[in-house]
Amino acid sequence: MSFPIHGEWLLPTALVLMAVSGCSPRSGEAATGRVSGLTGDEVARARSLYENAACGVCHGDSGEGVEQSAPALGGLEPYWTAERLMEYVRDPAAFRAANPDFGARSDVTYELEMPAFDYLSEDELRLLARWLLGGGLS
Ligand code: HEC
Repeated sequence: MSFPIHGEWLLPTALVLMAVSGCSPRSGEAATGRVSGLTGDEVARARSLYENAACGVCHGDSGEGVEQSAPALGGLEPYWTAERLMEYVRDPAAFRAANPDFGARSDVTYELEMPAFDYLSEDELRLLARWLLGGGLS
């Protein structure tokens, strides 16, 4: 009994099939909602925080960034730590004032200014920060 596809072709064939069907290993991960260190439930809560706070209006629904509007939210690590992200999202202007040496990740400037989200609880801010750092949107 011989297989039509030999062992050494299995991996490349699988990769080609995934590419053709528009499914990459990364989007497969996102589909199951897995983000390092977070439970499926936490991922779902973080996602709805992102949606309810309308972060996507400026950053894009998938955090892909919107030209002129706001930067992409992938690859935040190692530039950001969870503590700093929480502080920043709570009040970007206050964060910048308190951390004058903490420059933006790029020198692109945007027409919009990120508002403060100080109505979010400590727990919500922490969850959002862990989700963003864990690659929830990348
Ligand atoms: C009104 C538009 C707007 C909204 C709404 C908004 N942001 Fe932003 N955000 C910006 C802009 C503009 C910047 C870039 C500011 C800068 O570089 O000084 C930014 C920067 C950031 C950064 C830093 C990105 C980097 O490249 O280092 C993070 C993280 C972030 N936003 C998260 C969020 C989250 C989470 C929400 C929702 C709770 C949100 N933003 C809502 C406009 C927005």
